[in-house]
Amino acid sequence: MLEAIAELRSQIEADTAAIASATDAEAFRLKHLVRKGTIAGLFDRLREVPKEQKREVGQALNELRTAAETAFAEAETRFATPESAVPSHPRADVTLPGRTLYHGHEHPLMQAKARMEEIFTRMGFSIASGPDIEDDYHNFEALNFPPDHPARDMQDTFFVESGDRADVLLRTHTSPVQIRVMQSQKPPIRCIMPGRVYRNEAITARAGAEFYQVEGLYIDKGVTMAQLKGTVCEFARAYYGADVNLRFRTSFFPFTEPSAELDITCFLCKGDGCRICKESGWLEILGCGMVHPNVLRNCGIDPEIYSGYAFGMGIERTLMLKIGLNDLRLLYENDIRLLEQF
Ligand code: PHE
Repeated sequence: MLEAIAELRSQIEADTAAIASATDAEAFRLKHLVRKGTIAGLFDRLREVPKEQKREVGQALNELRTAAETAFAEAETRFATPESAVPSHPRADVTLPGRTLYHGHEHPLMQAKARMEEIFTRMGFSIASGPDIEDDYHNFEALNFPPDHPARDMQDTFFVESGDRADVLLRTHTSPVQIRVMQSQKPPIRCIMPGRVYRNEAITARAGAEFYQVEGLYIDKGVTMAQLKGTVCEFARAYYGADVNLRFRTSFFPFTEPSAELDITCFLCKGDGCRICKESGWLEILGCGMVHPNVLRNCGIDPEIYSGYAFGMGIERTLMLKIGLNDLRLLYENDIRLLEQF
């Protein structure tokens, strides 16, 4: 029996020396240290050993087992994977497609407003503003609207409840800012007035209940219709491109006399006539005219000394005609497929 133990000891020593990897160490454990292993096998044979030798043999076996366990523990630590090399989370999958990063930017409508401001400030206009909530006087009366003018109708104007006043409303155009500027400044006056306006209208592809306008006003001695025409045509060429075709056409507004409208060639049919331009080949972009003498008088400006022109246009409309957009509502839906084109 002691011989068998000595034999196994040399075997274990040889095996220990041969351990070169974690797999070898595991094989060593399975061969010698498990319940069916070599050492346990010798322990089983302890029964056959005569009584007087049991103590000596048992001791030798215990020593052998301790030596084998120590050898295995030492090998296990030597070949264990260092903890820092074990990934704590799954590795990044480098085959995944990349994620697109979208950068925010100014809304196309605000870009259009900024572009218009740029064109007019370069011509020498400054920028003025006024309140969105107006009264009948500034929105209609001072602008020479007769008391029974249909534009004051409940159909078009949003009235605002304000104590016992019945004349408070959301401005229907930016023209009341003209009145405020003329009341508070002495000529020469040269400014544009961009801002939001409100009309009690059904929301369709061509009209909304809320939209933007840019108004222009120039008051000085000897201002002429020719200067008005030059200014608005120059604006249209700057905004739509130097090759745009323009048509100056007579019109009517209560606050200007004479009045006119400026048309550009239809973006769709290029003048041949189509559904968009109602077969005319032309699309209206702005209203304008010489400031009515009554309006100047209402603001304390003597029409015998001063004259002036005014113009006004919708920002959505001018933008739609520029980019060929056929539905105004698209400008308010914030659909990324539209926005990312600007
Ligand atoms: N205020 C007019 C409108 O809303 C536009 C306009 C402004 C016309 C100034 C003439 C002069 O339709």
